Amino acid sequence: MEIITNIKQLQQKSISWIRQGKSIGFVPTMGYLHEGHEALMKAARQENDIVILSIFVNPLQFGESEDLNSYPRDEEHDRKVAEENEIDVIFFPSVDSMYPKPLSLELSVVRRADVLCGKSRPGHFDGVVTVLAKLFNMIHPTSVYFGMKDAQQIAVVDALIKDFNYPINLTTVPTVREKDGLAKSSRNVNLFDQERIGAPFIQQALQYGRQLVENGEKNQAELVKKIRQFLENKSHGNIDYIELLSYPELEPIELIDQQVILAAAVFYQKARLIDNVVFNEKGEKTLG
Ligand code: PAF
Repeated sequence: MEIITNIKQLQQKSISWIRQGKSIGFVPTMGYLHEGHEALMKAARQENDIVILSIFVNPLQFGESEDLNSYPRDEEHDRKVAEENEIDVIFFPSVDSMYPKPLSLELSVVRRADVLCGKSRPGHFDGVVTVLAKLFNMIHPTSVYFGMKDAQQIAVVDALIKDFNYPINLTTVPTVREKDGLAKSSRNVNLFDQERIGAPFIQQALQYGRQLVENGEKNQAELVKKIRQFLENKSHGNIDYIELLSYPELEPIELIDQQVILAAAVFYQKARLIDNVVFNEKGEKTLG
């Protein structure tokens, strides 16, 4: 496994692999790797000749009041996990090399971003697509791997790839969960004990909503109201949002008559957790 910090060196390597006809699987991350990331690495390893993992905590996608400085980091652990998962290259750039001076040009997401996390985190997805466009241009991946936990991110990346004609396959990998159903996240370490006990109710609330649809509930507003009541009673956190939208378009709907995403975000004292379930009009899970 090679660790590359230099952008030119990475570009030269990628181009030489492409010339040799090798497929490149790319797993973009912000590090502090957990089983969710490992599922992405395993999928990429199975499907590609070369696997590149990037670790970069991208300042552009954090708002001023957000957790950029307290975002967990552990280089040594990440190196070990990457090695165990037979990664060929870790790309580990510095902030200065990615953004040597303020950018003169940034991408702006005009659809799929003003709902769910995008609403509570203005500018977040602009930062995500801007760094991904840079990374795609450095790596030229054949396929890129994302976890379903960040379903809105997948919808936005789907638009980036299609709208900007990147010849990249977008592969989505199901959310990896703790035994009690809590979605694995780098932010889970920031939960206090009582919060950790309440956090699995986020997924339970979403599954409860899906079951209501299975049992015939079709009204979006009714459904969201019932899930809110469920979650308020159990989660020990403050609900940021519970939303039900079409997926992947992320448009508001009144009647559940197509594939939808039911998603929630909950604030805890030192963490904000998200989760979702994607299902069809019959309440059958379709993704993740
Ligand atoms: O999901 C993440 O970890 C980040 O948003 C990503 C895709 C690595 C871009 O910085």
